[in-house]
Amino acid sequence: MSTFRKTILITGGAGFIGSHVVRLFVRNHPDYLVVNLDALTYAGNLENLKDVEDAPNYLFVKENLLNAEGLDRVMETHRPDGIIHLAAESHVDRSISSPLDFVYTNVIGTVNLLNAAKKCWDGQFDGKRFYHVSTDEVYGTLGATGLFTEETPYDPHSPYSASKAASDHFVRAYGDTYGLPFVLSNCSNNYGPHHFPEKLIPLMINNVLKGKPLPVYGDGKYTRDWLFVKDHALAIDLIYHKGATGATYNIGGFNEWQNIDLVRLLCRLMDQKTGRPEGSSEELITYVKDRPGHDLRYAIDATKLKSELGWTPTVTFEEGLSQTIDWYLENGAWLEHVTSGAYQDYYAQQYV
Ligand code: NAD
Ligand code: TYD
Repeated sequence: MSTFRKTILITGGAGFIGSHVVRLFVRNHPDYLVVNLDALTYAGNLENLKDVEDAPNYLFVKENLLNAEGLDRVMETHRPDGIIHLAAESHVDRSISSPLDFVYTNVIGTVNLLNAAKKCWDGQFDGKRFYHVSTDEVYGTLGATGLFTEETPYDPHSPYSASKAASDHFVRAYGDTYGLPFVLSNCSNNYGPHHFPEKLIPLMINNVLKGKPLPVYGDGKYTRDWLFVKDHALAIDLIYHKGATGATYNIGGFNEWQNIDLVRLLCRLMDQKTGRPEGSSEELITYVKDRPGHDLRYAIDATKLKSELGWTPTVTFEEGLSQTIDWYLENGAWLEHVTSGAYQDYYAQQYV
């Protein structure tokens, strides 16, 4: 008999956001056993969890969402009360070059996990919850004005967002068809420590440190709504515990930036923090070929989450960016590790 009050299965816990969610749950809920299921793809890294790996309420299981029998075994062994599903292929540029990987993990992998939950819980849904973590990219793109609300129709444009949209539909379909108790959130762009340097902010930090060109796609006028990853993790904790079954919550930073302005701000902060001459990082900015199907603007209306559950971001963008840069400056070994080997091949292919 487990000594823990609850068992929570978190998928993708070795990735960027997942590792922050695992850390938060391990520390904030010592009465929960946190089981982290992750296949450890290029984006999964157990170094992200060094500080909690020995905690008595933490367990890691290496398993792939594509192994349905393996998922059944994990569910049978741990019989979790709840699942927080973050594991995914998450990078738009990779989805353009390898769309099927996204169909496999994000769509088939999610359906495998839904089946495993349905089988294990076998209609005994009392106290059970399947939380699907999704993205605002399912809503498509905004023009110069307007915000995504929970009622915005889905209109994905990249293979990544199409695969996440499909996974969202499957989760809701399992709720409607089999009564599976789910909750879903769609979040804007995250940033923070442990972010893999294929995404805009950590890629720019890494390139400034290496003195490499800073590749800005198209005219750089694309707009994203940035949220500090720890605020996303806090929102997930709140929604997991207090969100209404069957509901969707948008999560966003109320913090829109055009890419070029954000990259310039990063350059100024990097110059200050590394003692480089003012303006020297900006000289590395290079406009490169645009991403095909590039969404112009994302911006989230997170009013529902604020008014129903009382969530607001706790970290300002200035504080969050500063903490993020400091983390990369202090964790050179992590950066070296994740940018060696396969990353070099990816980079060469993506930024020819
Ligand atoms: P990430 O790429 O950093 O991590 C993904 C994790 O999933 C990795 O640990 C990887 O090993 C694991 N994984 C991948 N395929 C797997 C498989 N087949 N089986 C088991 N594990 C597998 O991703 P992230 O940025 O942390 O995103 C986490 C989730 O949040 C994703 O579902 C993503 O769609 C969503 N999301 C991300 C953002 C963002 O800005 N990064 C914003 C909103 C929503
Ligand atoms: P990214 O971090 O890939 O997140 P997403 O595509 O999910 O929003 O990209 C954020 C923005 O930055 C997006 O408009 C694409 C742009 N971008 C660049 O200009 N250069 C780059 O090298 C990368 C990776 C992204």
